[in-house]
Amino acid sequence: MREIRTLRSTWRGLETGLRRPLNGHEAGNGGYSQEVACGAPRQSSTLLLEGEEETCCRAWWPFATKSEKTDTLEATGLNNYAPPLYSTVKFLGSFEGKGHTMGGRLAGKVAIVTGGASGIGAATCRLFAKEGARGVVIADVNEAAGTILEADIRREGGNATFRPLDVTQESQWIETVDAVIAQYGRLDILVNNAGRSDPARPVVEQATGEAWDLMFAANAKGVFLGVKHAIPAMRRSGGGSVINVISVYALVGSPLGTAYSASKGAARAFTRTAAVQYAPEGIRVNSVFPGFVETPMTREVHAQPGVREERTALTPLGRLAMPEDIAWGILYLASDESSFVTGSELVIDGGMTAR
Ligand SMILES: NC(=O)c1ccc[n+]([C@@H]2O[C@H](COP(=O)([O-])OP(=O)(O)OC[C@H]3O[C@@H](n4cnc5c(N)ncnc54)[C@H](O)[C@@H]3O)[C@@H](O)[C@H]2O)c1
Repeated sequence: MREIRTLRSTWRGLETGLRRPLNGHEAGNGGYSQEVACGAPRQSSTLLLEGEEETCCRAWWPFATKSEKTDTLEATGLNNYAPPLYSTVKFLGSFEGKGHTMGGRLAGKVAIVTGGASGIGAATCRLFAKEGARGVVIADVNEAAGTILEADIRREGGNATFRPLDVTQESQWIETVDAVIAQYGRLDILVNNAGRSDPARPVVEQATGEAWDLMFAANAKGVFLGVKHAIPAMRRSGGGSVINVISVYALVGSPLGTAYSASKGAARAFTRTAAVQYAPEGIRVNSVFPGFVETPMTREVHAQPGVREERTALTPLGRLAMPEDIAWGILYLASDESSFVTGSELVIDGGMTAR
C-alpha cells in the first residue's frame, strides 16, 4: 500500500472511519460545516482524485459517483449517521488495492429494509439500489429521514419507496407487505434491521420490566412479525431471502445493558428456526452480527468518555465499523451468491468475538 500523503477532512467521524483503511495518511481536524434543517442524517463528501485512485476510493466509499466535469468523486450519504454535514477530503497521494465494482447483484429483486431510514439500514438501502434492485422499500417509523433517503436514492438513479412501518405492529406489517405487492408485484428480500437499544445500558438489577418489554417488542417480536408476513409473499415469488440484523451481544456477554442482549438472543434463535422451517420452499433466513458500528444508535454511547477508545481496543482490526461494512455482508446474503446459505450467522465485528 502506498502512502496517502494528505487527507483533509472537516469531520472527525470521517477521519475515524478512514484512519485504518487509508493507513499512513495525515488527517486534519475541522468542524461541522453545514447542518440540514430537518436533521436528517446525511453527509456529502468530495474526493479530488488522481488516476487510479477513483477505483481505490470506491472500495471504502462505494456510493460515490464520478463527476466528469470536475474529476471529483461525489459521495453523498456515505455514512448515514448524523450529524448532518458536508465534508471535503483531498487525496494528494494514491494507494493500491482493488475497489468494488457496482453492478446488478440484486437485479430485478424487491426488498423491504426495516429501520431503513438510518445507520446500517440506510447504507443497506443505498447499496441495494446501486446493485440494481427493482424496488427498495425503506420501512421505518422515522418518516422525515426516510423520505429524504428515498429522494436521495431516486436522484442517484435507484428505485426506492419510503413506507411508514412500526415493526411492533402486526397490522402495519400486513399493510406494508400488501402495499409492496401492489406496487412491485413481488417480494424477494426482507432485512429485519430495525432495532432499539438503551444508551443508559442498565445492568440486571437496574433494568425494568417495562424497558424489557419495549426492547423485545422491537428487537424480537418485530423480527418474528416481519418473517411471518413476508413468507407468503416470498412463496408466491418463488423463494426469497431474509436477513436479520442481530448483534455480537447475542454471542458474548455484555458488561452493561440487559434486555438488549436478551432480545437479540431471541432473534438469533428464531432465525435458525425459521431457516429450517422454510428452506424446503427456497426461502433462506440468515443473520448478521455487527460489532461496534458508528450510527445514530451508538452516538450517545460513543460520546461518553473513553467508550469509543475502549471499543476500538476491543476490536482487533483497530477501528469501529461504518454502516457500509455491515451492508456489504447483508448484500451477500440478499443476493443469489448465497443461494446455498441458510440458517447461517455472519459475524461482522472486526474480530471482536474471535478474541
Ligand atoms: N450500531 C451498532 O453498533 C450496532 C451493533 C450491533 C447491532 N446493531 C443493530 O443494527 C440495527 C440497526 O441499528 P443502527 O445502529 O443502524 O441504528 P439506527 O438508530 O441508526 O437505526 C435504527 C433505525 O430503526 C428504526 N426503528 C426503531 N424502532 C423501530 C420500529 N419499532 N419500527 C420501525 N423502525 C424502527 C429507527 O427509526 C432507525 O431509523 C439494529 O437492530 C441494531 O440493534 C447495531
